[in-house]
Formats: sequence, C-alpha cells, structure tokens
Amino acid sequence: EREGADKLALAEDALRQAQKMEAVGQLTGGVAHDFNNLLTVIRGSVDLLRRPDLSEDRRVRYIDAIGDTADRAAKLTGQLLAFARRQSLKPETFDCGESIADVVLMVHTLTGSRIVIETVVPDDPCYVLADKGQFDTAIINMSVNARDAMDGEGKLTIVVGPVSGIPEIRMHPPIAGDFVAVTISDTGCGISPENVARIFEPFFTTKDVGKGTGLGLSQVIGFAKQSDGDIR
Ligand SMILES: Nc1ncnc2c1ncn2[C@@H]1O[C@H](COP(=O)(O)OP(=O)(O)OP(=O)(O)O)[C@@H](O)[C@H]1O
Ligand SMILES: [Mg+2]
Repeated sequence: EREGADKLALAEDALRQAQKMEAVGQLTGGVAHDFNNLLTVIRGSVDLLRRPDLSEDRRVRYIDAIGDTADRAAKLTGQLLAFARRQSLKPETFDCGESIADVVLMVHTLTGSRIVIETVVPDDPCYVLADKGQFDTAIINMSVNARDAMDGEGKLTIVVGPVSGIPEIRMHPPIAGDFVAVTISDTGCGISPENVARIFEPFFTTKDVGKGTGLGLSQVIGFAKQSDGDIR
C-alpha cells in the first residue's frame, strides 16, 4: 500500500511538473504581453522626461510612474521565477497564529476599511514547520483574492487551529497526524462549480488583463504540497 502511495505521489509529481512546463510555455502569450505593456509605460515616461521645459510637477509624476511600473514588473518576474524553478524552501518552526496576526495588520491596508477582518486564533501557540515567508505570501494571496471577490465591502474570516490529520483531498487518501488548519472564508461572490476545479491551475484567472495573472493560488498549492500539507 505504501509503495502504491509512493508511486501515486511520483506520478502526481511528474504530472505537476509537466503542467508546470506547459504553463511556463504559455508565457509567450499572456504574461510576456503584460510585461511588454509595463515596458511601454516605462519607455513612454522616459521619452516624456526628455522634453525640455518640463514642470517640476510632471517630472515627479513621470519618475513615480517609472518607479511604480518597474516595481510591478519586478513582482511579475519574481512570481514567475518562484513558480518556474522549484523554489527551495527554508523551513523553520513558527507559531502560525502569531504569524497570521502580523500578516493581517498588513492585509488591512490592502483591503481597505470597509472590509472587516476577523481572526480566530487559539490561546495556545500552533507551531508549524514551514517556510514562514512563503506562508505569509500564501495568506496574502488568498486575502487579496477575498478582497477582489468582495468588491470593496464584506467580511474576511481567518480561523487557525490544531487538527488531527488531513482529510481526503482530490486523489489523496486522508493522512493522520498533528497538523494546523488555516480556514479562510469571505462573503464575496464565491466560485462557480465549473471554476472550482481550475482555480489552482497556473495562469487560470477570471480577472481582467492587468488585474490578475492567475499565479496566486498556484503559489499557495505549491507551498502547501512542498511543506507536506495540502489545500482544499
Ligand atoms: N476568494 C475567492 N472568491 C471568488 N473567486 C476566487 C477566490 N479566490 C480565487 N478565486 C478565483 O480563482 C481564480 C484564480 O485565483 P488566483 O489567485 O490563482 O489568480 P488571480 O487572483 O486571478 O491572479 P493573481 O493572484 O495572479 O493576481 C481567480 O481569478 C478567481 O476566479
Ligand atoms: Mg489571486
């Protein structure tokens, strides 16, 4: 049985790798296009900056535009690189609840005051062994999705607590053991049944061009699996 499970894990790994290569191959289409748009903004701002008798006001505006656009481009390539190479994780032991409390402070500035964030964290610490930076990124990616789904107003709830195993998920049998579950819910539009099966696919997005790349949940599932966890 053990051997069968190992083989299944290997097959799934190979499948994921193949899907990843295919996804990276799609770069030329979608993401390279987004990236080109960002370069166009930078190029255009530089041309405008070269004009003589530029007011101080405009000069500042163009420089800001270049800075902001370069930041977005860097974020895009960063996501792609993290995704394309199997990013090596740096696992450490940390308290999940404490980490989430810290991240939520930052998430608040992203979601705005009309979105209420409730966190439910047990009094006892919930230690996990994982890459803390990737964990925080995963929470942020899911929170940003919740924000987008709620269209500016609603409630985001994050519940943390110990569980005695991972339930059956997709092709995996249940796994017993000490785990920490993080449950995230929002009062947004929800996900249609036909989309649910696709949300973890790299580059699957229902958002407008420039609004979503479709890599947020790919990071989340990649991180969860590489950390011997899972996501449902
Ligand atoms: N909380 C949510 N509510 C409704 N739909 C969601 C939610 N989270 C994810 N989705 C759906 O899953 C899709 C994929 O999410 P994912 O985070 O991978 O990409 P994205 O948000 O579109 O782009 P990116 O995260 O790269 O900016 C979304 O486009 C959306 O359709
Ligand atoms: Mg997202």
